[in-house]
Amino acid sequence: MKILLASSEVHPFSKTGGLADMVGALAKALAASGHDVHLVSPLYRGIVSKFPTISSANWEFNLPMADRWVQAGLRSLDLSHGLKAFFVDCPSFYDRAGIYHEHNVSYPDNASRYIFFSKCVVHLSRYMDWRPDVVHVHDWQTGLVPMLNLQQRYEGWSNPPPTCFTIHNLAYQGLFHGSLFNQLNASREFFMPDGAEFHGFLNCLKAGIAFADAITTVSPRYAREICTEEFGCGLDGVLRRRRERLFGILNGVDYQDWTTQKNPLLPHGYSVNRMAGKAANKLELQKKMGLKIDPGIPLFGTISRLAEQKGVDIQLGALSEMLSARMQFVLLGSGSPDYEKGYLDLARRFPGQMAVYIGYSEPLAHLIEAGCDFYLMPSQFEPCGLNQMYSLRYGTIPVVRATGGLDDSVVDFQQDPKSADGIKFHEYSAQALAKAIRKALALYENPTLFKRFRRSAMRADFSWDKTLEQYLRVYEIAMSAHF
Ligand code: ADP
Ligand code: GLC
Repeated sequence: MKILLASSEVHPFSKTGGLADMVGALAKALAASGHDVHLVSPLYRGIVSKFPTISSANWEFNLPMADRWVQAGLRSLDLSHGLKAFFVDCPSFYDRAGIYHEHNVSYPDNASRYIFFSKCVVHLSRYMDWRPDVVHVHDWQTGLVPMLNLQQRYEGWSNPPPTCFTIHNLAYQGLFHGSLFNQLNASREFFMPDGAEFHGFLNCLKAGIAFADAITTVSPRYAREICTEEFGCGLDGVLRRRRERLFGILNGVDYQDWTTQKNPLLPHGYSVNRMAGKAANKLELQKKMGLKIDPGIPLFGTISRLAEQKGVDIQLGALSEMLSARMQFVLLGSGSPDYEKGYLDLARRFPGQMAVYIGYSEPLAHLIEAGCDFYLMPSQFEPCGLNQMYSLRYGTIPVVRATGGLDDSVVDFQQDPKSADGIKFHEYSAQALAKAIRKALALYENPTLFKRFRRSAMRADFSWDKTLEQYLRVYEIAMSAHF
């Protein structure tokens, strides 16, 4: 199948969160299984210096944005298995210090930046020699692509390709002033309550839901949740209307990147049957983060965007109670300044026992996954979540709130004592999380059971082949439903 994947971020070129990991890994997996895949994303600052073999694709184009024209060029890079990555080179939009924001303030022209990117995706699928069988777009930044595709019918393109739209997070909708609809140069009929309009605003995510031939989200449970008022973020009605085209597919993990063996980002390798390396990584982590070096103390970790979604408030509450017990905690994250301060203040109260690194670091993320005994993920909601799956592979027991993809990917003792690999709690409260941490401490005191959890965790398999089959089925549905 010829598949065009478009996303505002793709690992290893650009990343703010799991979206980049998922799209990068999906592209790789599709190409490795013999499909013909083209990827397209914006050319942000720093990409060319990191990947100097990116070359010009000798293609310049001008696209209208309301009554002005914006110019861009195309660059490309050949990757393994015939995978081709394209980059939209438009310095005025993408050559900036951040991807979506700087100093926690969103770029004021984000609507234009991603309307333009969506237009580029449609332009490429129409004018490239290579014609995609399906265009697969992700999150609000490319949510307008299915609609712009249909618009092309008015502009003389009789057979635009079918589209698949994946919702990675319903909470980010790309909601902008209604007047910005003009920048789409599209028929007004799309700006209706059953289309891109949302209470007078332009809603890019809603447009994706309304106009894509097939819609997916990143776990089966989240697919059910978002059709309810509680999790629907105002879009549950639209989602229910399109329910027969909505599919929940759990993300896969790129086990080439997230491996405990021969991983250049890990000081010590290990595997299910040779766990000494994990213990050595724990000591490295304690040393690096200024924690008391002690192989026997249970060490918990979290790596996260510090946003409300991630359950920061209940985590701070539970930790301030639980750190009086014999345990350590390490955080890697960045986000809301108040939350950053919350963690830093707490770490000051518990020196040697809690450590915080505010910032972004892939090597430290791997070391935390490898060095910790438990991984905390108390999300308010979680479409899929990748870190709990990385933790499982690294033999680090996830302690998660049973929501969305966290519930779908972790097995707890109540569900199945034989294959349990994590600890789940249900109520969204600091008390419930503290109770789950206490369960983790008790598990740590029972080496036989703890070892069994670890083995089950490391053997849990979220490789892409299973996930791929489901996407390919959805692409077929999009193709047959398309008219
Ligand atoms: P989300 O996409 O909602 O942020 P996920 O669990 O799906 O959550 O994915 C988050 C990804 O971003 C993981 O690969 C995680 O390791 C990474 N990540 C988040 N914050 C940081 C950070 N500060 N440093 C390094 N990696 C981070
Ligand atoms: C989003 C979600 C996260 C998911 C990721 C990749 O950022 O918040 O749960 O794992 O997308 O699909």
